[in-house]
Amino acid sequence: MKITVVGTGYVGLVSGTCLAEVGNDVLCLDVDPEKIRILEEGGIPIYEPGLQEMVRRNVAAGRLHFTTSIEKAVDHGTIQFIAVGTPPDEDGSADMKYVLAAARNIGRLMTDYKIVVDKSTVPVGTADLVRATVQEELQKRGAQVPFSVVSNPEFLKEGAAVEDFMRPDRIVVGAEDEQAILLMKALYAPFQRNHERLIVTDVKSAELTKYAANAMLATRISFMNELANLAEKLGADIEMVRQGIGSDPRIGYHFLYPGCGYGGSCFPKDVKALIKTAADKAGIDLKVLSAVEEANDLQKHVLTGKIKTYFGDLSGKHFGVWGLAFKPNTDDMRDAPSRTLIADLLAAGATVTAYDPVAIHEAKRIFGDKDGLRYGDSPAACLEGADALVIVTEWKEFRSPDFDVIKAKLRAPVIFDGRNLYDPKFVRAAGLTYLPIGR
Ligand code: UDX
Repeated sequence: MKITVVGTGYVGLVSGTCLAEVGNDVLCLDVDPEKIRILEEGGIPIYEPGLQEMVRRNVAAGRLHFTTSIEKAVDHGTIQFIAVGTPPDEDGSADMKYVLAAARNIGRLMTDYKIVVDKSTVPVGTADLVRATVQEELQKRGAQVPFSVVSNPEFLKEGAAVEDFMRPDRIVVGAEDEQAILLMKALYAPFQRNHERLIVTDVKSAELTKYAANAMLATRISFMNELANLAEKLGADIEMVRQGIGSDPRIGYHFLYPGCGYGGSCFPKDVKALIKTAADKAGIDLKVLSAVEEANDLQKHVLTGKIKTYFGDLSGKHFGVWGLAFKPNTDDMRDAPSRTLIADLLAAGATVTAYDPVAIHEAKRIFGDKDGLRYGDSPAACLEGADALVIVTEWKEFRSPDFDVIKAKLRAPVIFDGRNLYDPKFVRAAGLTYLPIGR
């Protein structure tokens, strides 16, 4: 099948590449010539395990192409995926200008049947807007070209996006007409494996499903974070509580890990957007979700709180920080808890040396030349001259450190662990003070 993907961000690039991998003829469009140049030369503008090799393989096989030409892009695909960004507006609602610009281009230039697929995370009702936008452009030039609009939200986890696309739990397709449903089923047939993964819904339900999934997951995390804070005060161990409740199949073990707050490009943005949509479009105050957001904002300061309780005045103190990315296996720092922590520490007069296996370049871009913030080229380098170690991201390489070395290097010696990586007994037996979350 001929497919166009508009937008070569995480979602667009992963989707386009994986669709090429199963034999489709895919053209990816981006307005940023620099991104397209990198891609054409076999590089990728983001860090995502397994993606680079897959891009190269499919470019070499002639199934994956890149362009900055809107004309070529609209002409190419029968299926036109819109996978552009929807950055939050000032007020928290998703900004639809890129999505609607893509729809406008399709309507302006298409000459034969197209399925316009919303892949970006868009508020409920966007498919209607996209349909109206395409229609309006067709009318402007007096053209009558048939088209369908489909909502097909992505459920990709950064760091596991290729695997998630190739072996999905479910594929949600919101469509209203038979022709579109048939084509979408054919498109996703290679990803079905041993049972049907495709769930066909109406368009609005598909749009809401994406927000519902992320809101539910964010709720679990904020709930566990609050319970962890409580467990700590009561002298209970959240890790034991987690196992005790996770064994109930209605609860399950996944996504029950307390920490120093959730971050990333999806949860914070989608939770905000759903609260806003509910208030503006339905007059409903989503109280649970507002509390989820509030709890997360507080949780991002939980490490600072512990550090201040331990040291009192932080001026002149120096901290080693392990982990900058919002989670392992990505260089993404959008809404990362590390940003809150570092800002808090610097504001309190402390200095920081931070290390991350892949996100240092991103941190440099975000923080610029900040007084008091340096980067180490290894986990050990962050410990030099530090009073304490603070762990923010659960990268594998932090899981089995040499505690004797840590103890020898730190002045205090204390570890503040925002991801509960170690057995408290083991670390304490090594002679360190260990302050994890909720235990
Ligand atoms: C998420 C959804 O999982 C995905 O389905 C959706 O399409 C996009 O948003 P992603 O943002 O890549 O994916 O990351 P995810 O692995 O879900 O983690 C989100 C945040 O939650 C991270 O900051 C992580 O550290 C935190 N988290 C996750 C916890 O604090 N505890 C947990 O138990 C799980």
